[in-house]
Amino acid sequence: MAVFSRIAGTGSALPAKVLTNKDLEQFVETSDEWIASRTGIRQRHVASEGETTADLAERAARAALAAAGVEPSELDMIVLGTTTPDLIFPSTACLVQHRLGANGCAAFDVNAACSGFLYALSVGDSFIRAGNARTVLVIGAETLTRMLDWSDRNTCVLFGDGAGAVVLKADAEAGILSTHLHADGGKKELLYNPVGVSVGFKPEEKNAGVRVLMTGNEVFKHAVKALDSVVDETLAANGLDKSDLDWLIPHQANLRIIEATAKRLEMSMDRVIVTVDKHGNTSAGSVPLALDEAVRSGKVQRGQLLLLEAFGGGFTWGSALIRY
Ligand code: UT7
Repeated sequence: MAVFSRIAGTGSALPAKVLTNKDLEQFVETSDEWIASRTGIRQRHVASEGETTADLAERAARAALAAAGVEPSELDMIVLGTTTPDLIFPSTACLVQHRLGANGCAAFDVNAACSGFLYALSVGDSFIRAGNARTVLVIGAETLTRMLDWSDRNTCVLFGDGAGAVVLKADAEAGILSTHLHADGGKKELLYNPVGVSVGFKPEEKNAGVRVLMTGNEVFKHAVKALDSVVDETLAANGLDKSDLDWLIPHQANLRIIEATAKRLEMSMDRVIVTVDKHGNTSAGSVPLALDEAVRSGKVQRGQLLLLEAFGGGFTWGSALIRY
């Protein structure tokens, strides 16, 4: 008999500290009007001194486990999407595993930048479908503000910190209907952080500080095109029409990108989950944060059809179609 994965519970976590657009006006040449009209962002949460990706991931994971009624000891695997791990190694998934007391299960990170949660979800789903795991914790967690140049208005106004998680359980009925992952390594220069281990930490070189570099308007165009294509691919793979969708749960980078995808799907914005105004772009945290908010607010109901999508550095992009 075929085995599928279902989302048994969701959770999320945000740092307590909030930075508004007005706060940013105090130390960088920008305005609330510019940020809100170009991105839809009004505020973002920022990790405080000593607060790490693992801290946020652990909180989101505990909430998802509680919602699912699953004990950490039942987990077969933890997959964590992040591009801002606490340490180079061990993986943040291993740090979270120990804190949860789930020692023994497989645990590893996936780095696919803003698409990290969808990549991690696809891995978890694939292990369950293949019969190699029955209960998987999937997390997307970031403290991206740690690698921002707070004097660069092109990037520092865009990002925030946060985490979201889901518990996947094996089920005879399909929850995750399909996932679709893509990447194009040829566009590295448009969105990246040049610091690395193997290339050497070269802080003396121009542009080599620990910071995000982005050609925003180029990324914007690629994002809209790639997301159009992946949502079409997802519906076609499942023989479904856009009118079958109940909710679009998109990556929260820019409200104008979200609106473009909604238009492609002929969905009115009241069927689109938007959190970018409150969270900014939390990279791998953004989709599971939006999903958890949608579930906890009662918008997303069991049995509904959800389309999740994301686009980010790499480039990477992907989607998941889910019967919740
Ligand atoms: O999650 C990973 C994927 N990332 C994304 O999807 C981000 C995609 N890109 C975007 O969201 C948008 O391109 C941005 C929000 C980053 C920028 O918006 P834009 O409409 O593409 O603006 P732009 O980069 O073309 O810049 C327009 C102007 C420039 O001034 P000039 O050259 O026209 O005089 C910028 O210097 O806006 C200026 N600008 C700002 N002004 C005030 C750029 N950043 C700011 C700022 N405040 N924070």
